[in-house]
Amino acid sequence: MSARLVVLVSGSGTNLGALLEACADESYGATVAAVGADRDGIEALQRAEQAGVPTFACRLSDYPTRDDWDAALTDAVAEYEPDLVVSAGFMKILGKRFLEVFPTVNTHPSLLPAFPGAHAVKDALDYGVRITGATVHLVDAGVDTGPVIAQTAIEVFDGDDEDSLHERIKVAERVMLVDVVGRMARDGWQVIDRRVRLG
Ligand code: GAR
Repeated sequence: MSARLVVLVSGSGTNLGALLEACADESYGATVAAVGADRDGIEALQRAEQAGVPTFACRLSDYPTRDDWDAALTDAVAEYEPDLVVSAGFMKILGKRFLEVFPTVNTHPSLLPAFPGAHAVKDALDYGVRITGATVHLVDAGVDTGPVIAQTAIEVFDGDDEDSLHERIKVAERVMLVDVVGRMARDGWQVIDRRVRLG
């Protein structure tokens, strides 16, 4: 049986695209049941619609408090009964209620714990590191602080700007995310003292 995924997005959705492509093969073991966003009119939602996957948007500004938004997002995602939620370029911090209900993985464009937050690629460039990369981790209540599942390293080239470096990171990030989500869907996972074991 295929594991049900809900994928959360905020932007171009190339990671979502990679997951949709992987899910087209039955042996991958997962299906994208729905795609949710924190805004309308983004390329990621178009990708989902083109693939015939249901979409929804849950905007923070439509709710009086962050807790109300958290509850609404939890309800919207619950409708699709996911086995796993994938935050793939979703640029909002998920709330306590949401994280109590759904096991959630996030993909982040740095080698955590270095450069958490919304500007990871710029922060790594500004710091002057020679190696950066991407991390897939379980989401906890902090900002990019959850247990690491997998990481991939990318060299920073002289002359890189934020776009060129981020594009190179994303090529490796998509492969890693597809691999990790597929293994979690097919084999399950365990967390012991922050160490994540797949299978
Ligand atoms: C990815 O690089 C992801 O790691 C990053 O946004 C990009 C989304 O790309 N997420 C964050 O920075 C979260 N802090 P995509 O929309 O093409 O999949």
